[in-house]
Amino acid sequence: MRSSEEGVVNLDKLTYAGNLHNLASVQGDARHVFVQGDIGDSALVQRLLAEHQPRAVLNFAAESHVDRSIHGPEDFIQTNVVGTFRLLEAVRHYWQALPAIEKEAFRFLHVSTDEVYGTLAPDAPAFTEEHTCEPNSPYSASKAASDHLVRAWHHTYGLPVLTTNCSNNYGPYHFPEKLIPLMIVNALAGKSLPIYGDGRQVRDWLYVTDHCSAIRRVLEAGRLGETYNVGGWNEKPNIDIVNTVCGLLDELRPRADGQSYRAQIAYVKDRPGHDRRYAIDARKIERELAWKPAETFDTGIRKTVQWYLEHADWVANVQTGAYRDWVQTQYQSQAESPST
Ligand code: TYD
Repeated sequence: MRSSEEGVVNLDKLTYAGNLHNLASVQGDARHVFVQGDIGDSALVQRLLAEHQPRAVLNFAAESHVDRSIHGPEDFIQTNVVGTFRLLEAVRHYWQALPAIEKEAFRFLHVSTDEVYGTLAPDAPAFTEEHTCEPNSPYSASKAASDHLVRAWHHTYGLPVLTTNCSNNYGPYHFPEKLIPLMIVNALAGKSLPIYGDGRQVRDWLYVTDHCSAIRRVLEAGRLGETYNVGGWNEKPNIDIVNTVCGLLDELRPRADGQSYRAQIAYVKDRPGHDRRYAIDARKIERELAWKPAETFDTGIRKTVQWYLEHADWVANVQTGAYRDWVQTQYQSQAESPST
């Protein structure tokens, strides 16, 4: 942000993973305006743009859980593809009518994922921004489609866009359907820790505040029309992640029976079309914009586990009826498989 007084209009639909409790720290701050709504609601977006005259629009809005996209892809097409298209159109009309100086300074920043690049063999070089786009899940295909729309709005209409493709985020306030928060929450609840397939799939892990600092930096100094990969330089197999989480819980909140939380690990049927490995080459953002992650995996995962231990009330709040229904649908369809 340019000045500490600059405001933020936060447009969020508050679907199952959204939660007003997450905004408690900015409640009462006049610089933050919360609006419940959909990026695909053109009339609403047009009204907000006219009213608040932003110097930038950042698109974080997305359906993002691969397993949900397998069970029901429609919402992913609506929010990620149609929503981004409508947002781009509303922003384009607003931007075209801006006075020359504001028009020049305006930015549209689109937040995307490394999953658009597809999967990597174990020894293949990490994804660079030049990697071909080969999405494999309904989720990643919908994000790839939105990335293409953003690119086209730059080339066709000259909209000043920037795109970031990040690796797997983790940290506080992460909805407990994704691997790390799910494992922490399940472990503490005495439930099983479901590992898909052999647990040797590899992801790169990026602490959430590092992702935020990268986005700020790209917004500030990124070259128009460019994409920037954002990664944590933390490639790890899922089973190592789960073992690390268990080890931290053993230290910070030991089980009453003295056993390790590792005893709760259960191998289950693999996700269909499961990408084997993602890895981000984040050298472009380092070279051009001098951005590097501040956290190592060790520091980030410890902070994350500690945060969940201190926020049992937050966890209880997000585990609504809808959350319970999802857990039931997803994990009953993945009958436990023999240990691999
Ligand atoms: P996830 O957090 O869903 O992110 P993504 O699929 O976008 O990378 O999953 C991270 C990895 O963990 C992925 O390889 C799937 C695996 N996984 C499990 O083994 N068990 C689980 O219960 C979940 C949610 C994920």
